Amino acid sequence: MMGKYLIKGGKPLYGEIDIQGAKNSVLPIFAASLLTAEKVELINCPMLTDVSNMAKILRSLGAEVSVRKGVAEIVAKEVTSYEIPAYLAKEIRSSIFLLGSILARMGKAKVAYPGGCNIGLRPIDIHLKALREMGVKIQEKEGYIYCDASEVGSTAITLDYPSVGATENVMLLASLTAGITTIANAAQEPEIEDLEKFINAMGGCVSGAGTPFIKIKGVESLHGASFRTMGDRIVAGTYLIGAALCGGEITLKGVNPEHLLSLTGKLSKGSCKVDSKNGIIHITASGRVEQLDDIVTQPYPGFPTDLQAQICVLATVAQGTSIIVENIFETRFKHLPELVKMGAQVKLKDRVAIISGVEDLLGTEVNSYDLRGGAA
Ligand code: EPU
Repeated sequence: MMGKYLIKGGKPLYGEIDIQGAKNSVLPIFAASLLTAEKVELINCPMLTDVSNMAKILRSLGAEVSVRKGVAEIVAKEVTSYEIPAYLAKEIRSSIFLLGSILARMGKAKVAYPGGCNIGLRPIDIHLKALREMGVKIQEKEGYIYCDASEVGSTAITLDYPSVGATENVMLLASLTAGITTIANAAQEPEIEDLEKFINAMGGCVSGAGTPFIKIKGVESLHGASFRTMGDRIVAGTYLIGAALCGGEITLKGVNPEHLLSLTGKLSKGSCKVDSKNGIIHITASGRVEQLDDIVTQPYPGFPTDLQAQICVLATVAQGTSIIVENIFETRFKHLPELVKMGAQVKLKDRVAIISGVEDLLGTEVNSYDLRGGAA
């Protein structure tokens, strides 16, 4: 169903917000819940379509899942299927993380190929290469990936690129694979640290998450756990950009300010001030923001691609000309033609947007092609 928002703008933003749990932390943690037959409780679980779709997939595999008032309960006492049907896999790209968990639990898996999406091609070659290095036999046929983990073993993996999902998939499979698996050039995103904490809360033995080198000692079995997911740094960053854009004063709680240094360093200039104390972020802003430094999206701790669309909006009304480079996804600039409809001055060349700030944007009808573009 097509959703629609009607927004009457032109007012500064004031208020205090408790930031919800991180989507990109909860989704792999849902996948990790399949690794135990015991009950998992997730506190601070955001109520999102991606989460309910992930819950549907887990149910289709035999797990009991409930998500109520920000608490998810997952019991995968018996996993009865090793197949993610295409109609569910296409709803949510993160179904690919389930590959590692299903293999660890069932020894084989059949997963529909996730394919491309609105922000880029999103291949899964890095996932498959890493799983093959662990001894998983993989065949790709008619849009499905068939995996057999009967000869899986621990090994030393070096990723060609620090893919978030591939790092998580290996962590999941390796947690129940005998021996020590290492991942060099691992993704360092905070959500990976959250996954490490969760696996360890279930009795696993993972270390190094948050650095480029992760070590996973496989255990015989994992037990149930109660776990609080970290606050969503991208949601928090979106509010910070909103305040810088509209002016006002906002206080954010429940998010780790260190996760947002690549953004807050850029925002805190001129009449826009960001302070972080005791885990609380406070922003005050008035008037037009000063010229933004160049923004180049990179794997963490670089500037996140998931805040690129939002910072583009800020650039449209900032002083001077801003250069924004998208390095992570090929086609994550679909919000730009929409901003042009509102009066933004934008030139786009391949993955580089050159945005000259104007005094004001004008309200009109625009479309959203992906989650972050919609927020922007
Ligand atoms: N890539 C490959 N081959 C692979 C895997 C990735 O070429 O096998 C490419 C991708 O196509 C992409 C780049 O590598 O161009 C980065 O992909 P990565 O695997 O790191 O991302 P992901 O795991 O698919 C997660 C988040 C994304 C976020 C990226 C980068 C989740 C559920 N998704 O995706 O979140 O943009 O990391 O930080 O964790 C969002 O929340 O809006 C979102 C898209």
